[in-house]
Amino acid sequence: MFGEHFRGVTMKKPFVAGNWKMNTDSHSAVSLVEGVVSGCEETAGSKVDVAVCPPFVYLQQVGKALSSSLVALGAQDVYFEQKGAFTGEVSSAMLKDVGCTYAICGHSERRHVIGETDELINKKVHAAILGGLLPILCVGELLEERKANKTTDVVTRQLKKGLMGIGPEKMLAVTIAYEPVWAIGTGLTATPGQAQDVHALIRGLLAEMYDRKLAGEIRIQYGGSVKPDNTGELMGQEDVNGLLVGGASLKADDFVAIVKAAARAT
Ligand code: PGA
Repeated sequence: MFGEHFRGVTMKKPFVAGNWKMNTDSHSAVSLVEGVVSGCEETAGSKVDVAVCPPFVYLQQVGKALSSSLVALGAQDVYFEQKGAFTGEVSSAMLKDVGCTYAICGHSERRHVIGETDELINKKVHAAILGGLLPILCVGELLEERKANKTTDVVTRQLKKGLMGIGPEKMLAVTIAYEPVWAIGTGLTATPGQAQDVHALIRGLLAEMYDRKLAGEIRIQYGGSVKPDNTGELMGQEDVNGLLVGGASLKADDFVAIVKAAARAT
């Protein structure tokens, strides 16, 4: 559907991240991460890279609770300026200072609820890398865009604009997350075939923008109603190298089951 599959590449370790969104409180955030840490002891870091992305205000507490584990800390967003009069914003230096490894950039809720543009998201990707963070750039089409056969156009635009000015060396720091907006929080997961089609499109675009080898090294996560019981078939797709998990990352058991299923599927 979206062109040639991209074959014969060596994939990196799968990467599963939990996006907690605006959920938890100081107590439940710590018990959630404790459950993740103990459940992922055998898998995190060795078989699967695992990260949790709590709300900004709980980053430090969660970071402390995971500090002796190989579960990494991620932020749900990052601002592009380093410091100054930007009320309410959080810089990459601050995120690094509290122990973050990753920062999500351009999540669909920031695009469509908060109104972030491709240009702003691109600045965030640059700022994250400059600040020593590994950005997770999210792309994905709305339901009406899919129905109007605009998936390729939308994903191509978001990917190209989001990565504008990111050279090959910096690109190695980036994870792409394909999250069809119609599948986020709706229980409507993309079929493994639908996910694979867009992942192959993204990999092909990366090969054009950079080269085939680099494109093969970039991890492309799928996100949108990922659950323990659909992880295996999603991760079984050739170009699906990880998962960005929302709702199911709020239950330690479910998230751990997803991480374990991802480890088995690869
Ligand atoms: P969901 O969210 O798993 O609840 O659909 C995914 C996301 O928004 O990252």
